[in-house]
Amino acid sequence: MSPTSPEISGSVRIGHGCKFGSGVRIVATGHALIEIGNRCHLKSGAILNAYGGHIRVMDRVTIGEYCVVYGHGGIEIGHGTAIAPHVVITAQEHILDSDFPIRFSGETTAGIRIGANCLLSARSIVLDGVELGNRCVIGAGSVVTRSMPAGFVCFGVPCRPIKLIERNFNYGWPDD
Ligand SMILES: CC(C)(COP(=O)(O)OP(=O)(O)OC[C@H]1O[C@@H](n2cnc3c(N)ncnc32)[C@H](O)[C@@H]1OP(=O)(O)O)[C@@H](O)C(=O)NCCC(=O)NCCS
Repeated sequence: MSPTSPEISGSVRIGHGCKFGSGVRIVATGHALIEIGNRCHLKSGAILNAYGGHIRVMDRVTIGEYCVVYGHGGIEIGHGTAIAPHVVITAQEHILDSDFPIRFSGETTAGIRIGANCLLSARSIVLDGVELGNRCVIGAGSVVTRSMPAGFVCFGVPCRPIKLIERNFNYGWPDD
């Protein structure tokens, strides 16, 4: 682990070679679980809270400054994915058609899957039930309400697939 240690509560597993900025919080209390793979980098102020779910971060993922990841329905973040500052990923949705005040009307938790080698740009928001294919690029400020296909640049509010990046990808890593 890096010299800066994150604040950890509950069941959290961290792989080798990970780096942490200051003020990182990782919370998996109760039956929740957070697993962070090898050589990940969680930058300053990032908060991961499983809220009873399972957050699985694969190897070589970077999570930018002040990102918030809420794992209620489960979240998987694929190998090598880069998450820019102030991104919010929340695997929970409030039930709105209820006579109760919204805070007490319950929630749905479908879960979120983010593929390998994706880029989630600054201030984008990923809502519950979304799947992002491998090598998907989400533009800055996008609100991702639906699943996005692999290899596409996607952006907007709501987020839409805009263009396919047609390349032969080399999955080697320059620092291997
Ligand atoms: C999504 C993104 C990757 C697209 O880049 P691109 O394919 O080079 O797109 P372009 O710059 O050619 O823009 C194409 C059009 O989309 C619009 N556009 C680009 N990004 C947009 C976004 N995030 N939201 C809404 N519209 C966007 C542009 O205004 C342009 O519109 P126009 O044709 O009407 O002029 C880029 O705009 C982006 O959001 N980058 C984020 C960078 C970031 O967050 N870095 C964080 C540091 S880790």
